[in-house]
Amino acid sequence: MKLFDVYPLFDVNIVQGKGCHVWDDKGQEYLDLYGGHAVISIGHAHPHYVETISKQVAKLGFYSNSVINKLQQEVADRLGAMCGYDDYQLFLINSGAEANENALKLASFYNGRTRVISFAKAFHGRTSLAVEVTNNPKIIAPINDNGHVTYLPLNDTEAMKAELAKGDVCAVIIEGIQGVGGIQLPTSEFMQALRQACDEHNTVLILDEIQSGYGRSGKFFAHQHTGIRPDIITVAKGIGNGFPMGGVLISPKFTPVYGQLGTTFGGNHLACAAAIAVLDVMKEENLVENAALVGTHLIEELKKFPQIKEVRGRGLMIGMEFSEPIKEIRQQLLFEQKVFTGVSGTNVIRLLPPLCLSMAEADEFLSRLHAVLK
Ligand SMILES: Cc1ncc(COP(=O)(O)O)c(C=O)c1O
Repeated sequence: MKLFDVYPLFDVNIVQGKGCHVWDDKGQEYLDLYGGHAVISIGHAHPHYVETISKQVAKLGFYSNSVINKLQQEVADRLGAMCGYDDYQLFLINSGAEANENALKLASFYNGRTRVISFAKAFHGRTSLAVEVTNNPKIIAPINDNGHVTYLPLNDTEAMKAELAKGDVCAVIIEGIQGVGGIQLPTSEFMQALRQACDEHNTVLILDEIQSGYGRSGKFFAHQHTGIRPDIITVAKGIGNGFPMGGVLISPKFTPVYGQLGTTFGGNHLACAAAIAVLDVMKEENLVENAALVGTHLIEELKKFPQIKEVRGRGLMIGMEFSEPIKEIRQQLLFEQKVFTGVSGTNVIRLLPPLCLSMAEADEFLSRLHAVLK
């Protein structure tokens, strides 16, 4: 059987990882400034993570959501305390798209409406509602194009207020920092006006923190830089450090109803063990603070490169925008300098390293980037 060929691949076979480094099948080492697309939060093959998952799978990998699973409550307690939302409720699921899918369903169950506001360049995943609120017609199949969504320019307060004033908007979904869209930041003024308008019109505010959350921005959630509290927050990627998992953090104003949401795999024992190990390490190694510290250093240093048109981001979620396509630069970084980076569109290189990136590793990246750009 052939693989369904939907991914353009680099000709590299990564077989091993440790911290912020990965190795290919020929033993070549690479510096990982991509984190497997913002997924690796605590670093590759962290010993505590390996041990916790290994012990759990030897004991019980999976049962079902029809019995008590105390590990789920442990994830909820630890996560609530660490992120500052201990009064919220947690629904566990398997991926980012599914987290958004369930957030949008919950919003619609809540106020009975069907219209959603999303933003230019937004990415929220590939399942039916998640892809419909994604601003990329190329990946919206006709069956997903159901007319629920109005896309507005990011940070356009007047347009947002005018749309919400119609009184029929079910939910607004917005990324803490846009990732796929090229590291675009919502302003605090916009977020505060959005919070107020959602309150006035009984619209549910959903913060997609799937890429920008879990410490990446230098606070637990990127929206915490803007001084608001959303009604629903979605997480995935870093929550399991590579173990497929997602979560929906739900404000106390939503009342759970038996059977309204559900999943076979979501919140299984092994996934919870992974999530608990991630939270242990994040706390023990102060990874949110590290992301803030090392990220600030990287952003300051990157701003000194005259070849880079603009540097955007917070913490270890950084976009470097160039005046011309970056394909060549990215190829040289990978094949000559042995550095993995991400991309957005044609002109932006995205940095999404593990949150344990050290100052020395950041400086090593800067010198390898210098070698390419000089
Ligand atoms: C902001 C955001 N939302 C949702 C998703 C979808 O997550 P998943 O691929 O786990 O379904 C992504 C993935 O890149 C993302 O960046």
